[in-house]
Amino acid sequence: MHILELFPAGTRVDERGDLILGGHRAGALAAEYGTPLYVFDEPTLSARCRAYRDAWAQAYPGSSRVAYAGKAYLNVVLAQIIHREGLDLDVVSGGELFLALQAGFPPERIHFHGNNKSAAELALALDAGVGRLVVDNLDELRQLDQMTAARGERVGVWIRVSPGMDAHTHAYNQTGAVDSKFGFLWNGPALREVLGRLQAHPHLRLVGLHAHVGSQIWDLSLLAESAGRLVDLAADLGRPIEELSPGGGLAVPYTTDDPVVPVSACADRVAAAIVERCRRHRLPLPRVVVEPGRSLIAQAGVALYAVGARKSIPGTREYVSLDGGMADNIRPALYNARYSALLANQADRPGAQVVTLAGRFCESGDVLVRDVALPPLEPGDLVAIPMVGAYCLPLASNYNLVPRPAVVLLRPGRTDLIQRRETWQDLINRDQPVALS
Ligand code: LLP
Repeated sequence: MHILELFPAGTRVDERGDLILGGHRAGALAAEYGTPLYVFDEPTLSARCRAYRDAWAQAYPGSSRVAYAGKAYLNVVLAQIIHREGLDLDVVSGGELFLALQAGFPPERIHFHGNNKSAAELALALDAGVGRLVVDNLDELRQLDQMTAARGERVGVWIRVSPGMDAHTHAYNQTGAVDSKFGFLWNGPALREVLGRLQAHPHLRLVGLHAHVGSQIWDLSLLAESAGRLVDLAADLGRPIEELSPGGGLAVPYTTDDPVVPVSACADRVAAAIVERCRRHRLPLPRVVVEPGRSLIAQAGVALYAVGARKSIPGTREYVSLDGGMADNIRPALYNARYSALLANQADRPGAQVVTLAGRFCESGDVLVRDVALPPLEPGDLVAIPMVGAYCLPLASNYNLVPRPAVVLLRPGRTDLIQRRETWQDLINRDQPVALS
């Protein structure tokens, strides 16, 4: 795979060696909006939404919906694009729900996950008329019992099932193992209890079963088996289930060495598993709701950083420091994630030198890309890191009180700021004065 394929669709290098993202010169974007800068290419995001919808429409003979897992990255404008593309939305907090409602996302097309939703968050969801609440544990069920009884409402719920499977991904990205804080273990007593209590519940209507094995998964057999286990459970229930959600989790390539798993291959495999098990158990096909995050948005996002100070340790390492780092992308430090990088102002030149791209934060672990071959770098050069659309900005912090980056939407012929850069003033705005003696 060529490195440009990790960037938004149509990315190219012009005759001057400049990287062109969505028709816009990376250097011009950096000059207009400053660095570090995150850009999202709208046509790439829209195409991924369509690819997901089409793949499921083709692969599955029953009805299907695609819900974007907003934890991968949400912003008001992005939520509006997701809505326009006809997707549903998965939220995991009152904050994500609030943003979605402010963006005008239809509440009935939102479902609400979370292993410890607060009373205020559940109240916001009930007030708004959120489509599905995903019940994660018995304490939440008790809380919902009380809240819905007091309101005299009837609400559609899914049960989150832990399929008890180890996934071949970073331990922090496994969510469906036996030892997991999420959901009801598929063959455990708590699941039988919640299913029993929802049988004839006056206020909570069991609509669906959900499972999510983990994130950054290449092995499609894991996703297929987890979905199959949900159908087995539905069969045990002794009555058809309307909706089945096999979660998200499809991996994306971060480097040119990583395999590429097409969305259609994933849909084919998971859909086949659901159809086969439904036939085996003589169950009607449920509506399937898939929940991709990373594989929907990662490729649309690119980070642009300016090169700053360099440090050469002959025979050991060549450090090149960028003006961002772990506070805007903690994934290398947290999960040992590997990224690729390109010199955006001389993208046509061969990588003559192996360098380590370090961040600017006061942690030795603040390294964005270790051992990458790039042309010689000078202060002021522009480095582009692809595949940063998912799980970078949502995990961003203000470590060292560095303002968080600006975010720009790229469209053919125009660019728009969709989140302004934080200011130093923003950083102290929540501090309260106290009279000191
Ligand atoms: N549905 C549920 C219930 C989830 O827990 C997740 C992700 C998704 C869907 C979306 O999964 P995706 O398609 O994005 O793999 N911060 C980590 C990823 C955490 C994912 C947590 N759950 C990272 O940067 O790798």
